[in-house]
Amino acid sequence: MKPAPPNLAWLNLPNMPAAIKALFAGYLLVIGLGLCMAGLQIMLTHGLADGKTGLSIDDIVYSYYGDRSGSKLASKLNGSMKDKAPLEVRQDIVKWAQNGSPESEWEPHYKAVFAQYCVMCHSQIPGIPDFTKFEEVKKAAALNEGATVEGLTRVSHIHLFGIAFIFFFVGFIFSFAVNVPKKLKILVIAFPFGFLIMDVFSWWLTKLSPSFAWLTIIGGIGYSAASAYMWVVSMYQMFILSRNGKVYGNAWESDL
Ligand code: HEC
Repeated sequence: MKPAPPNLAWLNLPNMPAAIKALFAGYLLVIGLGLCMAGLQIMLTHGLADGKTGLSIDDIVYSYYGDRSGSKLASKLNGSMKDKAPLEVRQDIVKWAQNGSPESEWEPHYKAVFAQYCVMCHSQIPGIPDFTKFEEVKKAAALNEGATVEGLTRVSHIHLFGIAFIFFFVGFIFSFAVNVPKKLKILVIAFPFGFLIMDVFSWWLTKLSPSFAWLTIIGGIGYSAASAYMWVVSMYQMFILSRNGKVYGNAWESDL
C-alpha cells in the first residue's frame, strides 16, 4: 500500500498551529511598532528640515540636495535652532553668512554673538560643531550641499540590508494567506522591494537634482502601503478569520 500523501490542509494563516501564530504575530507587532517609530523619526528629523512641521517635498530637497542658496547655519537658524536666539540676532548671523562669513568681522562682533547664544551647547555637547572656533562656524556657514556621498552610502546600505529583512519576513508570513488572488499576492509581496530600491535611488537622484524628490515620497508611500496591507491581512486571518473553524487547505499549493 502506498503511504498516504502528507496532509498539509493546515498550512495557511487561519489554520496555523498556535505556536507559529504566536511567532508570526510577535514579529509583526514588533515590526509594526518599529515602522511607526521610523515614521515618527522621519517627521522629527527630515520633517523639520525646512523649518516647518510635517514632511514635504521641500524637506526632502533640503535633506538631500541641500539649499544651495543658503548655508547649514542659515537653515538650522530657521529650523531646529530657531528658539536659540531672537529674530534680529538670527538675521544678523544669516546676513554675515550670506556675505561669505568674512573673518574680519569675527573677532570684533560675531565671536561675542555666538558666545552669548550658542556656545553653552556648541563647545560643550560632543558631536556638534564647536562655535568658539571660527573655522567650525565658517564650515557651518558654507553652502548647504545637502547629504554627503559618505552619508548617503552609509544610510543606503544600512537601509537596503535592514529593510530587506523586514520585507522578507512580512512577505513570507503573508504568503500563507488564503482568499487572496494569486496575482495580487505576487504583486504585493514584490512591491516593497521595488519601492525600497526606488526610495534609496531617489536620495541619490535628489542629491543631483531636486526634481527627483517626489520619487522619495512615492517610494515611501508605496512600501508603507504594501506592507501595511500584508500586516493587516495576516493578523486578520490568523486571529479573526480562523474563528469560523473552516479548514482552508494548503495555501502554497493553491498558489502553484
Ligand atoms: C540648548 C543647546 C543648543 C544651543 C543653545 C544651540 N544649539 Fe545648535 N545644536 C544643538 C544640538 C543638540 C544640535 C544637533 C541636533 C540638530 O542638528 O538639531 C545642534 C546643531 C546645530 C547646527 C547643525 C550642526 C551640524 O553640523 O549638523 C547648527 C548650524 C547650529 N546648531 C547652530 C546653532 C547656532 C547658530 C546657535 C546659536 C544661535 C545654536 N546652534 C544654539 C544644540 C544647541
